[in-house]
Amino acid sequence: FDIAKLRSETGGYVTYDPGFMNTANVQSAVTYIDGEAGILRYRGYPIEDLAKKASFVEVAYLLIYGELPTQQQLDDFDHMIRTHTMVHEDLKIFFSGFPRTAHPMPVLASAVSALSTFYSDSLDPHDEHEVEVSTIRLLSKVPTLAAYAFKKSKGEPMLYPQNDLNYAENFLRLCFGVPAEDYEVDPEIAEALNLLLILHADHEQNCSTSTVRLVGSSDANMFASVSAGINALYGPKHGGANEAVLNMLRSIQSEGISPEDFMEKVKNKEEGVRLMGFGHRVYKNYDPRARIVKATADKILRKMGGDDELLDIAMRLEDKALADDYFVERKLYPNVDFYTGLIYKAMGFPEQMFTVLFAIGRLPGWIAQWREMMLDPSTKIGRPRQVYTGETERRYPGVE
Ligand code: ACO
Repeated sequence: FDIAKLRSETGGYVTYDPGFMNTANVQSAVTYIDGEAGILRYRGYPIEDLAKKASFVEVAYLLIYGELPTQQQLDDFDHMIRTHTMVHEDLKIFFSGFPRTAHPMPVLASAVSALSTFYSDSLDPHDEHEVEVSTIRLLSKVPTLAAYAFKKSKGEPMLYPQNDLNYAENFLRLCFGVPAEDYEVDPEIAEALNLLLILHADHEQNCSTSTVRLVGSSDANMFASVSAGINALYGPKHGGANEAVLNMLRSIQSEGISPEDFMEKVKNKEEGVRLMGFGHRVYKNYDPRARIVKATADKILRKMGGDDELLDIAMRLEDKALADDYFVERKLYPNVDFYTGLIYKAMGFPEQMFTVLFAIGRLPGWIAQWREMMLDPSTKIGRPRQVYTGETERRYPGVE
């Protein structure tokens, strides 16, 4: 394009960078990624170490406050979250307005948006106390709302949270428990869910986190900003990919296509078919989260009686892709979503819940990034420029 013309029109240069491939919009101390080397660290701690030892609540504390908690700090934080998991009864009625077939992701986004109306005493983004209150409210209530969205889709009654259970256990009981019946949480399933939540907890300036920041940059409250992030995560190129992976594996299975033939379709870009769960804007190497998930998928699926045939198709697709020039040249490797869906399915979740589980995991990251932005004196309202390609000035002739 004509840079001189653009310069005279804008009074200076603008950067034309579709998809922000090379534009850093923020300075952040939360998460470090080296996409070429396949490194991911939260506040400096390698994801592999956190995944081995930490609890999700501990990781949430680390992301939000910048340091690992002491035992006392962790106990206090955990206690605050456990004792704020209930939602206002009127918020439960809100769910009955949605059609039963509603996808739980937009239901969750709407319910989180509605938190601004139910908890209007914690909306000021520059009041330290109110920010603390909305942080705890989101961390504690989002799993409850997510479980209610799930119950709504099944047409089952909603349960009250049980605060003697930990984060993952309470959520599993809310999803799979039935009133008046004891529900024994399987510790192995809870442990696996804890691990998957940790792996999703933050990923620097991805689409949904950038959305949370962009919305928050107008001083919109934390509930409104996070609700926007949930909607961004819903898309199949982002969090929705875990659901798309399972649909892809299922259709390969049901149509009896061989993984080899499916790969040909992908490479020929037939009907825009992509190998879902592959490729990443930042990772040009194996996604370290996918490595951890893959290592545990086989073990967990065997324990939980998961679908071996779908796992087998996934592994064959991966083997094919890693040895294929198309994928090698483009540096396309499995991302975190490639194997997670198989685990969620083995846990008993239907495909529509997969992205909801991702949202629960990503929540501490959204909160940490939103809070970092609010405290950063260099924050400005997000307002990208454009390169105008429309008509020059025209005369309005009137409709007659
Ligand atoms: N299957 C086949 N080809 C692919 C794939 C894929 N999964 N991903 C990228 N490509 C190809 C593109 O066709 C393109 O090829 P071309 O140069 O011949 O046109 C090239 O690789 C670059 O692809 P882009 O779409 O330009 O890469 P971008 O960085 O914009 O996209 C994205 C990244 C959206 C993740 C992409 O790889 C994709 O669509 N993957 C599948 C969906 C997915 O798994 N998303 C989850 C991402 S991780 C997350 O959100 C948790």
